Amino acid sequence: MKKSLQLLSAAGLLLGSLMTARAQSTRVLFDNDWQIQLDTANQYEASRLASKPWQKVQLPHDWSIEQPFDEYSPSTNGGASLRGGTAMYKKEFTVPAADKGKHLFIDFDGVYMNSTVWVNGHELGTRPNGYISFQYELTPYLNFGGKNEIKVLVHNHQPNSRWYSGSGIYRNVWLEKKGDIYVDNYGTYITTPKVSTQQASLQLQTKVKNALNKTAAVEVKTVIFDDDKRVVKILTDKFSLQPGELLERTTKADIPAPKLWSLETPHLYKAVTEVYQGGKKEDTYTTNFGIRSFHFDREKGFFLNGQSVKIVGVCMHHDLGALGSAINYRAMERQLEILKEMGINGIRTSHNPPAPEWLELCDKMGFIVMDEAFDMWKEKKNDFDYHLYWDQWHYKDLVDQVLRDRNHPSVFVWSIGNEIPEQWGGQKDTSGRSIARELNRIVDSLDNRPTTAALNHPQKDNNIAITGTLGLIGVNYHHQGWAKLPEEFPGQTFILTETVSSLQSRGEYLMPSDSIRRWAGFTKKKNGGTPDYICSAYENSSAPWGSTHEESLKLLLKYPFLSGMYIWTGFDYLGEPTPYPFPARSSYFGIVDLAGFPKDAFYLYQSLFTDKDVLHIFPHWNWKPDQKIDIWAYYNHADEVELQLNGKSLGIRKKTGDQLHVQWDSIAFTPGTLKAISRKNGKIVKVTEIHTAGKAYKLVATADRSTIKNDGQDLAFVKIQVEDQNGNLVPDADNELHFSLSGDAQIAALDNGNETDLTPYSNKESRKAYNGLGLAIIKAHEQKSTVTLTVTSPGLTPATVQIEIK
Ligand code: GAL
Repeated sequence: MKKSLQLLSAAGLLLGSLMTARAQSTRVLFDNDWQIQLDTANQYEASRLASKPWQKVQLPHDWSIEQPFDEYSPSTNGGASLRGGTAMYKKEFTVPAADKGKHLFIDFDGVYMNSTVWVNGHELGTRPNGYISFQYELTPYLNFGGKNEIKVLVHNHQPNSRWYSGSGIYRNVWLEKKGDIYVDNYGTYITTPKVSTQQASLQLQTKVKNALNKTAAVEVKTVIFDDDKRVVKILTDKFSLQPGELLERTTKADIPAPKLWSLETPHLYKAVTEVYQGGKKEDTYTTNFGIRSFHFDREKGFFLNGQSVKIVGVCMHHDLGALGSAINYRAMERQLEILKEMGINGIRTSHNPPAPEWLELCDKMGFIVMDEAFDMWKEKKNDFDYHLYWDQWHYKDLVDQVLRDRNHPSVFVWSIGNEIPEQWGGQKDTSGRSIARELNRIVDSLDNRPTTAALNHPQKDNNIAITGTLGLIGVNYHHQGWAKLPEEFPGQTFILTETVSSLQSRGEYLMPSDSIRRWAGFTKKKNGGTPDYICSAYENSSAPWGSTHEESLKLLLKYPFLSGMYIWTGFDYLGEPTPYPFPARSSYFGIVDLAGFPKDAFYLYQSLFTDKDVLHIFPHWNWKPDQKIDIWAYYNHADEVELQLNGKSLGIRKKTGDQLHVQWDSIAFTPGTLKAISRKNGKIVKVTEIHTAGKAYKLVATADRSTIKNDGQDLAFVKIQVEDQNGNLVPDADNELHFSLSGDAQIAALDNGNETDLTPYSNKESRKAYNGLGLAIIKAHEQKSTVTLTVTSPGLTPATVQIEIK
């Protein structure tokens, strides 16, 4: 194996919602006061924009999520049946005369896709990749002391994605201001080649630019703070720079008794680098980093700070459900909180570089991230996808991704691609080999974390694996072959880059519960599942290339050489509603639905990978008289579970061997109470009850947080339950819910987790409940306010909830 997989620490950014920690003193959000001209007619011609009105928009902005679901959209239902299109964004701004002599840059964290940027009519560049961050210098074209205009043309020419991409300037934009001598963009790289609890050796590489046309004597001072804001080290360096020179300097120090970054206590350090010339401060640049060691062992899997850790991760696409792809810090944080609560410790950013804030959250919360670059190389998956730009852009895009992300302590593995067509072909077509070698070489030249590729042909003759350049053999699916991997790839280390692809709708149950459905695609004549467009939340359906959760989990837990897996997927996402055609428009793969409500499998993971006492029984208890129902329980911390129906015992069950749940089959339904009791050594650990619900009677609304910030971005997620008179969830309720808000805030979106609901997301007034639940997302404005959300439904007692915005 080519790499030393030891060592490594990394640095990262820690971000507040308005100011980034990087270049803190000089970088401001540039998201306000934009306007857009939009054409979603699938013509993709900029000339069509001339007749379109300018409309105000707030960045981050995704225009696709506001469109109606359209069966004929070229994005297909793989892209959530939402349209792409063409748009021009513009923003006017003034630059103070006092800034003359400063260097100004504009940073785009991501624009989907094919953006071209102009300032005051001068073209700065084009960037096809919709997921990469990029920067342009504005200085030479600015009117100091006067008005300026930025324009951004965006083409989202569909189909170019296998999932929902979103469209537009969907990530943050920043304006950066620097002196004549400054730390270059992505100009710091912090590693800790040796780490122990006694001491860490720290190496800081800093790229400094002299933008003057004369030689400069430079002093660079970096102060290292721990997470209690204590100064732990000061590094200084003096050198001279030629006119225009960009120079990388290395300084080193030892940090005694470092506070290690771990999944439970993800300690972060901060390096504040100041650049001086003749005693004058020219630039300040802040880099957050963590100190930890890790390695992958051929036989024993993954180790973090010397401790064995099984990676139980999830793959995530970038959309935020009803909010579309426009990034929002709180919405991302909520997703990660829900995943943490479930016991998940890893994230794969499938299949592209994520928003920078996503990695900052993973640093802060403790996740093992696989940072992925591409879903295709030169060979296409869709007509207008990145293959068109591969030759010209792959080098720059990959370099920029690694440079941007390599300081994050949460990043452990780089993936150079997902299910890349060039892996196939054996001896007949070996074109993928040279690309695989090149991409690995690029990553290796910039960082020493391992690379992998998500291979769906995990065999010896795989044209990517055969090059011997991957740090880890990455395997998508093929669980039947996992036991044999060490034989197939002798001497290698392994990561399961993608597993499971189980298919579930929250609250839907198809019996018998242990008859497994393997549902793939659909044809023009026939959908791939049921006439109701549902999948079963029992562990009994998956894509044929995948498995149920339990099938993969059992094997993962059995073989120590499997360092971990990334489950497809943590949350449902927009698009790819396998096995259904339109009107299905969002995926069934999530363990959590699109609205953020857990499906039953959530508790399987929680029972295995958290300390919480878990006793989860399902399905609900509203069936036809005498209907035969299978009842399942996920539990932990106990030796047995007893189930009682209306006080009468249905027997005790115990997990034996590798079982991950217990079940009671074919129980004849009679209304009443199902009660489960888990016991350890005869003592009760937990009791869970479900009651047959009566008619829908009232709505109950609960906010995830009752106080949010007045920063124009913060969100409160309000869950609405349809309940009977006794407070039981009505498990099949689909009542129409109406929402109104008083006070200074807005309803950002509504959802319910139903994969086939065609109510457009632009409708912020009403949406049906789905299996008893609904969701309203409230967004703060910049005013302090007490807001009240009222939810009504004909014939039901309404609900209100108050949120304090301050
Ligand atoms: C995989 C692919 C994912 C997703 C998944 C659905 O093969 O890598 O992007 O399409 O299948 O099961």
